[in-house]
Amino acid sequence: MTTFVKTYNVLDDMTMVMSEIEFQNKSSRFGLSPKIIRHYQSGDKYIIEMERINGMTLADFYGEKMSDLPASILCKVKRILKILLYSGIQYIDITPYNFMIEEGTDKIYIIDFEHASPIHINWYVRDFLLEGKLNKWNQDFE
Ligand SMILES: Nc1ncnc2c1ncn2[C@@H]1O[C@H](COP(=O)(O)OP(=O)(O)OP(=O)(O)O)[C@@H](O)[C@H]1O
Ligand SMILES: [Mg+2]
Repeated sequence: MTTFVKTYNVLDDMTMVMSEIEFQNKSSRFGLSPKIIRHYQSGDKYIIEMERINGMTLADFYGEKMSDLPASILCKVKRILKILLYSGIQYIDITPYNFMIEEGTDKIYIIDFEHASPIHINWYVRDFLLEGKLNKWNQDFE
């Protein structure tokens, strides 16, 4: 497996880089993004090494206009964004440069979590409904 390397200046806002890593880790656990292999500082650079997707961005493959995108691909893009949203991640950088289509499988991946942000989901709703971890009523309302 080959890797793709994303590089930042350590003078940049490192909390942003760390939150980008956290969001991408979560998304890759859902199988929606390339997995981060490791991340580390090297001199004045911060390096993120991730799986390289063997494919192209949707912009390179279908062009920049959403109207040129096949309906089935648009459907997959929305599905990815909805899964992220339901898991508490709001992804707003929705451009064809941030989705990649894998050669051979046509699987769609989302990349670049720089502008992603957390949305607040009540702890009980998250655990009970989304993560299926609880089997009791909401004690906050007992
Ligand atoms: N895991 C990957 N595998 C293969 N190519 C990738 C991968 N991640 C990113 N790329 C390529 O690198 C480009 C830039 O990646 P990304 O959007 O994450 O970086 P960026 O520094 O935020 O760039 P930009 O400012 O253009 O958004 C993508 O459009 C894509 O072509
Ligand atoms: Mg990008």
